[in-house]
Amino acid sequence: MALDLYKYVASIPDYPEKGIIFRDILPLMADGEAFKQATDEITAFARERQVDMVVGPEARGFIVGCPVAYELGVGFAPARKKGKLPRATVSASYQLEYGEATLQMENDSVKPGQRVLVVDDLLATGGTIGATIDMVEQMGGKVVGAAFLIELKELEGRKHLRGIDTKTLMEF
Ligand code: PRP
Ligand code: ADE
Repeated sequence: MALDLYKYVASIPDYPEKGIIFRDILPLMADGEAFKQATDEITAFARERQVDMVVGPEARGFIVGCPVAYELGVGFAPARKKGKLPRATVSASYQLEYGEATLQMENDSVKPGQRVLVVDDLLATGGTIGATIDMVEQMGGKVVGAAFLIELKELEGRKHLRGIDTKTLMEF
């Protein structure tokens, strides 16, 4: 029987600041069955779209994306915070509550024409995934799906997903 994945999310009020409820997915990742179920659901979504590359942003996007790539037998390319990559990069910036942040990928990590799944643990405002999609497209990749463990509906992050087929396992 399928597990209720909501039971594996810890909700922490007023973290990191007053008024925010932090949705912590580490308990899900620490449970073998729950992590496997979540990975299998995202992998099935990717298989339907004939994905041949998985891309995820630092840091929790790596944890969600790597087992999916392994299951599919395809590669994984990380989108890192600025200044961490040694070779030539593409980059994209996005708005934070105060100011701006930049993500980077090595500029040959996605090949032109590759069918890419972008993944992260959580979709909030969508800035992180929007920048990730930008970089994949700069390299000529085609984003054929997006998948998240959690979507925070009221922040309307889907507007950054530009109509891309999107799977979320839980909504808050
Ligand atoms: C969190 C989360 C997503 C992002 C979602 O990561 O893991 O990547 O925020 O927010 P958004 O939709 O508003 O962009 P964070 O930036 O805290 O980085 P971390 O995973 O390295 O802690
Ligand atoms: N990233 C942005 N908003 C978040 C939240 N409420 N919980 C966990 N990660 C987040």
